[in-house]
Amino acid sequence: MSVNVVVLENKAAVAKKAADMIEAQVKAKPASVLGFATGSTPEGCYAELAARCKAGKVSFKGVATFNLDEYLGLDGEHDQSYRYFMNDRLFNHIDIRPWNTNVLNGVAADPGFECLAFERKILACGGVDLWLLGIGNNGHIAFNEPGSAPDSRTRIVRLTESTIKANSDGRFFKNPLEVPHYALSAGIGTIREAREIVLLATGDGKADAVKAALKGPMSLDCPASLLQKHDNFTFICDKAAAAKIS
Ligand code: F6R
Repeated sequence: MSVNVVVLENKAAVAKKAADMIEAQVKAKPASVLGFATGSTPEGCYAELAARCKAGKVSFKGVATFNLDEYLGLDGEHDQSYRYFMNDRLFNHIDIRPWNTNVLNGVAADPGFECLAFERKILACGGVDLWLLGIGNNGHIAFNEPGSAPDSRTRIVRLTESTIKANSDGRFFKNPLEVPHYALSAGIGTIREAREIVLLATGDGKADAVKAALKGPMSLDCPASLLQKHDNFTFICDKAAAAKIS
């Protein structure tokens, strides 16, 4: 089946559409298992979901979540950890039970075991119903950098220089020297097993990655292209990110 590509006017419309899809999923199945990403792109969607939950339009009481990745060496109290990000942007503002939110522990005594336990817990929960993704400038998904295997599982990965630079441009870390060089990341195989994938891309900085992901061949050079054959995959872009695919 081909990818369902949705091009919307701007970032706000992308956030709303993504929130609509998550709301529909949770209403259809209150005990949904959701996969989440961090980064700038999904922030608007999380703000939307928080507002809808506060307004009583949707409840996350029965939901379990898994996050894609975490920096190795950062604990959940660190303000650049992805656990902190998720609590701050979403979990603290919705009615989800905190113990049903799963973010890899960046300071686990045995990071390899942490990755294995994460995979086992996804299986024990019945698999992910819908995984929300962003895309890196180099086409990465989660921290699966170019060259990652299509069947890769949750593991310790090394960040590329381009990702370290992108994450220290002032939005998150202020200085590349502060960015951990390693992370724990769900694999491409892990992500592909989700029953539904929703990938968001906004801004002209993503236009080349979006083109490679959608119009290029399925290739290790662009990890997001490895999702092309997923049978329930929606790619939501704003006009700037879609500039090179129309
Ligand atoms: C983070 C993640 C990453 C980001 C990507 C884009 O959990 O999965 O792959 O989605 O680096 O980041 P932003 O949205 O900040 O451009």
